[in-house]
Amino acid sequence: MSAKEMKLFGWLLQLMCLWASAKATCNVCNAVNSMACYSLNQTQACDASGLPTRIPYSCPDGYVCVSSAAGVRCQPSSSGTGACQDCNKCDFTRTFACTGTNTFALCLGTDAPQNSVGTCAAGYVCNNRDERICGLDTQVVPTCSYADETTTTTTATTATTTTAATPSTSDASAYCAAVQAQGNYAVGNYTATTCRQYIKCFLLNGSWRGQAYTCPGSTYFSPSSRLCVTTVPATCYTPLSTTTTTTVAPTTSNPNAYCAKMQAEDYYPVGTTASTTCRQYIYCFELNGSWKGKLYTCPGSTYYNSSSKTCVTALPATCTSAVASLSLNGVDLE
Ligand SMILES: *[C@@H]1O[C@H](CO)[C@@H](O)[C@H](O)[C@H]1NC(C)=O
Ligand SMILES: *[C@@H]1O[C@H](CO)[C@@H](O)[C@H](O)[C@H]1NC(C)=O
Ligand SMILES: *[C@@H]1O[C@H](CO)[C@@H](O)[C@H](O)[C@H]1NC(C)=O
Ligand SMILES: *[C@@H]1O[C@H](CO)[C@@H](O)[C@H](O)[C@H]1NC(C)=O
Ligand SMILES: *[C@@H]1O[C@H](CO)[C@@H](O)[C@H](O)[C@H]1NC(C)=O
Repeated sequence: MSAKEMKLFGWLLQLMCLWASAKATCNVCNAVNSMACYSLNQTQACDASGLPTRIPYSCPDGYVCVSSAAGVRCQPSSSGTGACQDCNKCDFTRTFACTGTNTFALCLGTDAPQNSVGTCAAGYVCNNRDERICGLDTQVVPTCSYADETTTTTTATTATTTTAATPSTSDASAYCAAVQAQGNYAVGNYTATTCRQYIKCFLLNGSWRGQAYTCPGSTYFSPSSRLCVTTVPATCYTPLSTTTTTTVAPTTSNPNAYCAKMQAEDYYPVGTTASTTCRQYIYCFELNGSWKGKLYTCPGSTYYNSSSKTCVTALPATCTSAVASLSLNGVDLE
């Protein structure tokens, strides 16, 4: 390559990066004017700690939100690529795509999100530039717009209005914005999981923020003292039979039922537990007109990579407690 070609190549690369970053700037605070794009055609202000306030302001008709060296601005849609367009797009390792601010789907080595539903733990958001999938919402911004969430939130709220008026604990900051009072709050009543978690609500520069925590060691959150205690609170219980779906199509104990749900000859992931199910995979194949599955374990201390469909030494992003649940073709992964 000549010096001139090199320069042109470098310039092209820079242009591509600029274009790519413009699309990926959803919810990213731009220091120039302390604002962020809220959606393709909405902006939002940022607070003192550099986090988006999640209060949208609409751009005029025919304008899109663009984040650049000039700050976050509404620009005529003809003059620039709007932000917040990376939702439902697979990450570059073809492992996952964010499908909402705290949900994702597996891509299984393809460029399209598969029939898969993953959720991030409370207080975590999905970012497809972050190899961890789910990052703490105080450190990572979601790839998808909060605007995409409003429809699902409203339907969820209308569905639950009859049962409870209390806001959902799945989004700590939204929970605290509704509670509007400082302190620690219980998350749920399942002994092994939610009974050990709590949300801390605090006021940060005029807006309510929440952070989800898990009690240390084998302690539980006491709703009365609002502290982590060693005795199991009376409200905690262990659900008798877990989910019916796991008995219908368990993965490790019934690979044939699992493969009947996959309906394609291929290799599939088993679970999200780093020490156990993350090291396993199931090979599905058709025999005499019915689907069969065989469970394998990766050799040594390697893990199953659902994108490359091979055993790898690095821990895959799905293998973390920041991932609360994950399903594939309706089967809950363990
Ligand atoms: C903003 O974009 C959404 C779809 O992304 C569209 O439905 C809406 O009409 C747009 N609003 C304006 C003001 O252009
Ligand atoms: C999994 O495979 C994909 C595709 O080959 C690769 O990009 C990614 O880095 C791998 N992940 C791990 C944890 O090895
Ligand atoms: C836990 O159970 C108690 C008693 O049934 C109930 O009052 C409380 O709302 C429950 N807490 C949560 C977070 O679900
Ligand atoms: C709160 O935010 C305003 C503007 O957003 C800023 O001027 C002020 O210094 C902040 N206060 C604190 C205590 O951070
Ligand atoms: C497949 O089906 C045929 C007839 O139904 C049977 O004879 C054969 O043993 C089956 N093969 C296997 C591997 O089960």
